[in-house]
Amino acid sequence: MNERPSQRKALLSSKKRAKPIVSCLACQVIIMKLSSIFEKKEKIFDAWSVKYDEMLAAKKAPISFESYDEVLLAVLEQARVKEGMKVLDIGTGTGNLAALFLSAKCVVWGMDFSTEMIAIAKKKLHTLRTVQANIAENKWPKELNQRFDRIVSSYVLHDFPLDMKRQLIERLVRDYLSENGLIIIADISYPTEIDRSKAQTYWGCLWNTDEYYWAADETNSACQSMGLECIYHQVSSCAGVYVIG
Ligand SMILES: C[S@@+](CC[C@H](N)C(=O)[O-])C[C@H]1O[C@@H](n2cnc3c(N)ncnc32)[C@H](O)[C@@H]1O
Repeated sequence: MNERPSQRKALLSSKKRAKPIVSCLACQVIIMKLSSIFEKKEKIFDAWSVKYDEMLAAKKAPISFESYDEVLLAVLEQARVKEGMKVLDIGTGTGNLAALFLSAKCVVWGMDFSTEMIAIAKKKLHTLRTVQANIAENKWPKELNQRFDRIVSSYVLHDFPLDMKRQLIERLVRDYLSENGLIIIADISYPTEIDRSKAQTYWGCLWNTDEYYWAADETNSACQSMGLECIYHQVSSCAGVYVIG
């Protein structure tokens, strides 16, 4: 992870900031459809916020949240943070992942599009710096115009198709990650596309076809094409952690 491919240096040194996540025409069509979905999702998350922590504590969350605590701890472990590091948590929700980084004495920004989720996170974590923004928007608020030592995320990015994930990662590296920084993403994920297909067959009609679960082999290829290294750890039967840098 310390050896940087030259392409990553090129990404970091690029002067262009805030390049749209979506650059090709086909993707723009997808994002138009997705933006109406995102508006609905924002409301869904607002409604979910009140019950979110309760549901996790009572182990009543959907199966995709299996081993939730272990998955979040794996993010902290893989991040190998030092006191004072700047961390951005995208899709911070009620702040459960952010809380781990605050306990490790990092300075943490939590970004989310849900007003209600942010309100709960703020109430729980007084030192969390919160920013309300939609990950899919081309422009993020100016508070985020800085470089972070770690950019982390848990259980958020499965709403994005692979190409949007790829473009988001590229944007994060170019515009928001510090030179020796790492991106650590935990989400619903399988080691390979074949494993993901098998899981879909297994779950049948319970599989949510509106979501884009990760497969480590395709993510690896996407990262390689950007000159980024990607290491994957499967943590539960359906969730894993990516370390990208
Ligand atoms: C399942 S929760 C996960 C929250 C937290 N990361 C955790 O692990 O508990 C997903 C969170 O991502 C936020 N989110 C989803 N899509 C988003 C988007 N496009 N922009 C900003 N936040 C988003 C939701 O509002 C919600 O708080």
